[in-house]
Amino acid sequence: MQRERMMAGNGLFYPIIGFASVFAFIYMSFGDLKINLSEETKMSFVGRNGTQFMVDGKVFYINGWNSYWLMDQAVDEYSKPRVRAMLQAGAKMGLTVCRTWAFNDGAYHALQISPGRFDERVFKALDHVIAEARKQGIRLLLTLVNNLQAYGGKTQYVNWAWQEGIGLSSSNDSFFFDPSIRIYFKNYVKAVLTRKNSITGIEYRNDPTIFGWELINEPRCMSDASGDTLQDWLEEMSAYVKSIDKKHLLTIGLEGFYGPNSPKRLTVNPAEWAATLGADFIRNSKISTIDFASAHIYPDHWFHGQEFEAELKYVSKWMLSHIEDGEKELKKPVMFTEFGFSTDNKNFHPSKRDRFFKTVFDVMYQSARKNGAGAGSFVWQFLVGGMEEYNDDFGIVPWERPATYRLITEHTCRLARIQGGLAQQKASLKDLCSRRR
Ligand SMILES: *[C@@H]1O[C@H](CO)[C@@H](O)[C@H](O)[C@H]1NC(C)=O
Ligand SMILES: *[C@@H]1O[C@H](CO)[C@@H](O)[C@H](O)[C@H]1NC(C)=O
Repeated sequence: MQRERMMAGNGLFYPIIGFASVFAFIYMSFGDLKINLSEETKMSFVGRNGTQFMVDGKVFYINGWNSYWLMDQAVDEYSKPRVRAMLQAGAKMGLTVCRTWAFNDGAYHALQISPGRFDERVFKALDHVIAEARKQGIRLLLTLVNNLQAYGGKTQYVNWAWQEGIGLSSSNDSFFFDPSIRIYFKNYVKAVLTRKNSITGIEYRNDPTIFGWELINEPRCMSDASGDTLQDWLEEMSAYVKSIDKKHLLTIGLEGFYGPNSPKRLTVNPAEWAATLGADFIRNSKISTIDFASAHIYPDHWFHGQEFEAELKYVSKWMLSHIEDGEKELKKPVMFTEFGFSTDNKNFHPSKRDRFFKTVFDVMYQSARKNGAGAGSFVWQFLVGGMEEYNDDFGIVPWERPATYRLITEHTCRLARIQGGLAQQKASLKDLCSRRR
């Protein structure tokens, strides 16, 4: 369109048409760039009003996904294009937030090589992920450390303290109580939150592309089943994040199990072991510096040999219980930041996974329709083709199975009908949601 107008309005240039096209091309490229940039700067911070997320004065429900691998893949040139491919594909499905790792402690492609020492090449990879997300209109939920050993995790921090001769204990739970290790982690948090993006020039703490921060993926502190140790760590670390960054929302990263402080809720746990892990959904999420609650959904890892239909029923019960907590106890939004269905199951079939997804989406949708506290769900996990080595027993390439793809995009469209859709999503939603009806 723009090109035709340009040419028509510049009849004078016809004699030197070759040059004219070159000029036109350059002019237009800059024109486009300007438009994109001004649209990008319009992206605003996500806030909250009670149990709901708000963006640009409107309620914001999230159809999201996990791709933990974005930073790792952005380090090497050969794999870097996967980042754009994934974010673009997510945007095309009308997804709005991607949860991904903003840590890699001491492992291959480590961001933090040793306490307080960073690999600039990997930081640039994270810069790229954030800049690319912004271009695609996707926000990021960034996780700051892992409870598990993948990509370093709390065990790596403990080993560092041990190696430097300042660790109090070699138990990996000393991550939570050792004062030196707490300082390591705070230094890490500060470095990430105040990082100035080498591509956009924006400090992470000032960048609305970041939906929010997650303190730790799936924290457990089994050495203190009372929950006091983890609670103390969460209070200190969430206050610390807020002392540096008041603009972003903050969550914990819990699996969602109920602990000894919620005796009435213990029957909702999958089994007795779940109350002995040192985590406690309501008590932990109540902390005033935590803005929203989060929980995960892994029925086939939590139960063995349970009937599929019974599992689905349990999923609804688990979700409804947490949503009710958000409304009555916490007065905060609740997000299901991971839900996955294992391909290792006996009798696995993708249609079963679809039914599991649909169960999760339906509970989310029903909550949204009633202005409930259910604020979003994130599939674990999406990959692009050719990434088998990054797969676990949950990964899917969503466009490889049309039935799954349809389920995801239908959920996008019905949420959009409630909330109107984000400004930067308008065009893609029209395309995605009008064709069908
Ligand atoms: C916040 O939520 C309350 C209660 O639902 C509502 O009355 C109020 O209008 C909301 N405020 C904004 C700014 O949307
Ligand atoms: C904690 O350390 C023990 C060994 O000391 C190890 O077996 C276990 O996997 C570790 N757990 C985590 C979550 O890193």
